[in-house]
Amino acid sequence: MSGMPRRLAIDVDTGTDDALALLYALGHPDLEVLGISCVTGNVTVDQVVINSCNVLDAAGAGDIPIAAGAVQPLLERARREGGSHGPDGLGGIELPQTSRQRSPVHAVELLHRLIMDSPEPVTLVTLAPKTNLAMLLTRYPEVAASVDQMIFMGGSASEGNTTTVAEFNVWQDPEAARCVIESSIPTTMYPFELFSRLAVSQGVADRFRAHDHPAIRLAGDLLHRRRTSTHGPSHDQVGLLGDAGAMVLLTNPELFVIRELPVHVNLDGIGRGQTVVDHQSRQRRTAVALDLDAAQAASAFVKVIDGYAA
Ligand code: BDR
Ligand code: CA
Repeated sequence: MSGMPRRLAIDVDTGTDDALALLYALGHPDLEVLGISCVTGNVTVDQVVINSCNVLDAAGAGDIPIAAGAVQPLLERARREGGSHGPDGLGGIELPQTSRQRSPVHAVELLHRLIMDSPEPVTLVTLAPKTNLAMLLTRYPEVAASVDQMIFMGGSASEGNTTTVAEFNVWQDPEAARCVIESSIPTTMYPFELFSRLAVSQGVADRFRAHDHPAIRLAGDLLHRRRTSTHGPSHDQVGLLGDAGAMVLLTNPELFVIRELPVHVNLDGIGRGQTVVDHQSRQRRTAVALDLDAAQAASAFVKVIDGYAA
């Protein structure tokens, strides 16, 4: 481990790929997960809490606080539940019932307490619709000065995955996304383009699935549910890391091409939820990950998951 671990708060809508991201963060020797805030997105917030507790159990994590937050976006009703992650959000993987209890406070209060009580700056990783974070920054603007960095999974520099132009996390709550991306917190955006490129081979996923350790086995089951075919002539089956790639960006920024670019969240009409990444303007705003060394980034992920057995 290199020095003090980085102190993290993670905002999730767990989700098969949020689950992979949590496994990575909990297993990484340089990261300390202070707490988890949950928001409705892939599934309802209550299911997100259960799924996240199941991941903490599989990882053998200690008593990490986990709190339920926003049940719907700032202005609209939540519009997609049980989408590509199945009705329970974890693709029907059978897991032991958790005995963990959620925090009695709202996710916004938990985040506020974790950040303000921390003797060191806290890093925020947001893998879900941005409603909790927009509420946090509006209610407690002072937290921004105590957050050293934010990794923002969401948006796209080109096409979307929910509408032609909008990525799910931003589309679900565009007002919140704009509030968060325009905050003073130094932010790196992990857009949909990279999200859909970072994957591990089905051979690795199969090896994980056969493992005795519950965290490694869960990673394998999750990757199996996230399998897709590569575009090349071989059409190899791979498991997409999705949100877990944003965690790799945090720990291994040297594997990514990152540029400071203005990012504008479109709120209107057919483009609602689109992130316009302005390659022409010289105005400095948000760091955007534009490219990656996919093989090295996948290896970094595999190494951390294998570390559960060490
Ligand atoms: C995002 O949407 C969710 O389905 C995933 O968990 C990810 O955070 C990708 O658009
Ligand atoms: Ca997510």
